[in-house]
Order: sequence, then structure tokens, then C-alpha cells
Amino acid sequence: MNIQQNTILITGGATGLGLALAEQFLINNNTVIICGRRKDKLEEAKLQFPLLHTRVCDVSKKEERIALIDWLFKNFQQTNVFINNAGIQNYMSLTKAINLDEVTNEIETNITAPIHFANLLLPHFSGKQNSYIINITSGLAFSPLALVPVYCATKAALHSFTLSLRHQLKPTGIQVIEVAPPIVDTNLGGSGRNDNNITHRGITVNEFALETIIALQTNEVEIAVGQASNIRLKREEMFPLMNR
Ligand SMILES: NC(=O)c1ccc[n+]([C@@H]2O[C@H](COP(=O)([O-])OP(=O)(O)OC[C@H]3O[C@@H](n4cnc5c(N)ncnc54)[C@H](OP(=O)(O)O)[C@@H]3O)[C@@H](O)[C@H]2O)c1
Repeated sequence: MNIQQNTILITGGATGLGLALAEQFLINNNTVIICGRRKDKLEEAKLQFPLLHTRVCDVSKKEERIALIDWLFKNFQQTNVFINNAGIQNYMSLTKAINLDEVTNEIETNITAPIHFANLLLPHFSGKQNSYIINITSGLAFSPLALVPVYCATKAALHSFTLSLRHQLKPTGIQVIEVAPPIVDTNLGGSGRNDNNITHRGITVNEFALETIIALQTNEVEIAVGQASNIRLKREEMFPLMNR
């Protein structure tokens, strides 16, 4: 992938991995649009990187997904890269009553949204030179961390969907890339991870973004960053080690 002069939308781009990728894409002369639910976080990101374009959107809502794509191609017709990065991670004990609304929201955000976006992008991206859908999965797509069971199931589903999407979209020319991050120090999952001053045993967002940008310039279609490549290699063999 040529990582210059693209027009790129990153869902969930106001914080964490998404914002670090946005910064790298800006440095490389791309037009970058980010979306997320929290207006204040989008404004903070724009203050930090004034060239960013922002849009409030809750990707878990069907109508907002449709409105985002309508707005995007009205305002940035040349958009050729769409990164499904928005994600949530809920800790859940399956020995107690679960909150089904929370489960549904996690599934809508992490897997239904990328499936729907792929379909909404089809008329805009088909036949367009250098169009890319990039799905951010996780090392946990290949072997789950039992503490976040639905999250891992959605990432495994997104990995599987990405394989089928890549295969089916071949005749359209749309290229489909998967990026599986390792543990990265962000606020994902909330509790226990929302102290920005301590490490959560992960790499930094900048390390992640730099490694990803380098890998995107190769022809790799499945990019497992750092420790995620070890989990991808060993898959469920890793499960006992990860869930002691
Ligand atoms: N950090 C890790 O260790 C790690 C490892 C593997 C994979 N990943 C994946 O990397 C991606 C980014 O996560 P992160 O670690 O950077 O965490 P993060 O900082 O919490 O970023 C998630 C972003 O998604 C946005 N978001 C969440 N729900 C949304 C919704 N319904 N609509 C629109 N935006 C939404 C959030 O903004 P709002 O709350 O304002 O909407 C936030 O900006 C996720 O897909 C995650 O699964 C992370």
C-alpha cells in the first residue's frame, strides 16, 4: 500500500491506537478523518492535530453508520481507505447474570459495524484505484482471554469475516487488510487500564502505529503486530498460558 496521499477515515480515531495511526498518516501527507461518540475527545484530537477532520458517530447504531458514509462521500468523495478501529472490551463473569444490552452493544460495535460498513462502502470503493478496507482485530482473535469472552469472540469473528470479505471482494479491486494488535497501553476495557501514567504490560501506541505503518507498505494482508504474531502462530495452544 502506498501510504501517502490517501483519504482515510478511522473509526474510533480520537484516542488510543486510532489516534496514533491518524498522526502517522498525517505525517505521511494523507487527508485523515476520525469519528467517535465523544465530541470532546474529537475536539481534543483536533486541537493536538489541527489538520484532522472530525465527525461524531456512534458506529453501533445502524442509522449513524449510514449517515456517516453519506456525509463522508459528500464531503470527501476521494476517500479510498476505511479503517474499522472503533472497539469496546467488556470484562464479564459468565457465572453471574449478564447484561444483554452490554453484550449486544459490544457485538454491534466490534463486528456488526465492520460488516455493515463493508457493504455501505461497496458502491463507493468498487473499481476505485487503491481502495482499502482495514480491519483492526486483535491477537485475542486467535486465542481468547477468558476474562473478556464476548470481546474475544467478536475479534475472532472479525478475523474470520475479513478472510471471507477479502476473498469475495477480489473481483471489485477493493483490498482488505487485517491488523491484529498485541497489548497496547490504551484505555481499552476501562477498569484497571484507565491510568495513563502506568503501563499495562503493553507496547506504546506510537510503537504500534510505527510498526503498522511499516507493515502496510509491504504486500502483507494479515499484519500481526508484536506478540500478536506469536498468538497467531500458536493459537489455542496459548490458551492455558494466557488464562492461568
Ligand atoms: N489496546 C489494546 O491492547 C488492543 C489490543 C488489540 C486490539 N485492540 C483494538 O484496537 C482498537 C482501538 O482500541 P484502543 O486500544 O485504541 O482503545 P481506545 O483508546 O478505547 O479506543 C477505542 C475508540 O473507539 C471509539 N469507540 C468505541 N465505541 C464506539 C462507537 N460505538 N462508535 C464510535 N466510536 C467508538 C472510542 O471513542 P468514543 O468512546 O468517544 O466513541 C475510542 O476512541 C479496538 O478495536 C481494539 O479492540 C486494542
